[in-house]
Amino acid sequence: MTVTDTQVNQSETPNAEGYFSFTLGEFQFRRDEYFVYITWPTGHHVMSVDAFLRALQRDVAWDFFYGIVNFDGVFGTVNHYGTVDIFAGRYNDSYRKAELDYSENHETPAIRETFKSILADWTNETFDPFASPHETGAAWGIKNGDNNSAVTRRRVAAQRMVGVPGDEQIRSDESGFRINRHFLDVDQSEPVVEAEPGFEGEVVAFNLFAYLSRSDVTWNPSVVSACKDSLFCPTTEEYILPIIHGNDRVEWFVQLSDQIHWDVEDRDTGAIRSRVLMKAGDVCAMPADIRHQGYSPKRSMLLVWENNSSKVPELIASGQAPTYPVEF
Ligand code: PHB
Ligand code: FE
Repeated sequence: MTVTDTQVNQSETPNAEGYFSFTLGEFQFRRDEYFVYITWPTGHHVMSVDAFLRALQRDVAWDFFYGIVNFDGVFGTVNHYGTVDIFAGRYNDSYRKAELDYSENHETPAIRETFKSILADWTNETFDPFASPHETGAAWGIKNGDNNSAVTRRRVAAQRMVGVPGDEQIRSDESGFRINRHFLDVDQSEPVVEAEPGFEGEVVAFNLFAYLSRSDVTWNPSVVSACKDSLFCPTTEEYILPIIHGNDRVEWFVQLSDQIHWDVEDRDTGAIRSRVLMKAGDVCAMPADIRHQGYSPKRSMLLVWENNSSKVPELIASGQAPTYPVEF
């Protein structure tokens, strides 16, 4: 059954800690000083509020992303591009075997509006869910203002390429993006472009390392170039990817600087499949039947390369395309 109601259902009054409670279908959400409590007809769950808000922030900003966004081993969403499943225990072997897993399908606007409202109400002015833990205040405590400018940041999605007229322009001190403390050694010089007469507005180049050194967010891929369905989505990473991503397609990772540890698990059961340490210069393809979470000890630069074709998930799900990209 698809739930089509787009109204956000929130409690009439805030609780003792100052936060509203929300319902979406049969799911209920409430927070106190430290934790988020989620209930559904067959169970309930508790998450630390900082981890919950970091995951919620990605799910909202990426409009439910590719495939599955696991907030942790129990709770998450599945994007069907028009509708979204919200689930508990569905990709957890123990919940499945105990028949305690639960899932509802909602029209995307309904879940989007509910999640946006929860994020806005539960984020205090001290907390930025996109920032590294070192660069933000705490998520804890009783209700204390809001941080709407941070939680409504729009991610960069270039139509052609950063630097091309109409897309985001190169970042500088003047644009308000400062070089991150971990990237002070990154060369800031821009390439010199010498275009043939008549092509001055067409030939563009930019220094991707300099661009990324000024990123003020973590674990938030932006689209810096688009060639048909081929999207280059680099990002700067520090601490832990706030979601466990179960993709519906293959994605490539190019480690541009520093290191990331990846936990790779079976997408459906959560059983561990491998641990990967990617060092600067390493390239890997994450298969389409796994889920993964990354750990970046120092701020690092990662290029995520996505195939944005809407045909890919069905080709893989139906077995017409393999879950891996290359036959060696
Ligand atoms: C991913 O799930 O592939 C992913 C998400 C966010 C990032 C990097 C990778 O910043
Ligand atoms: Fe992924």
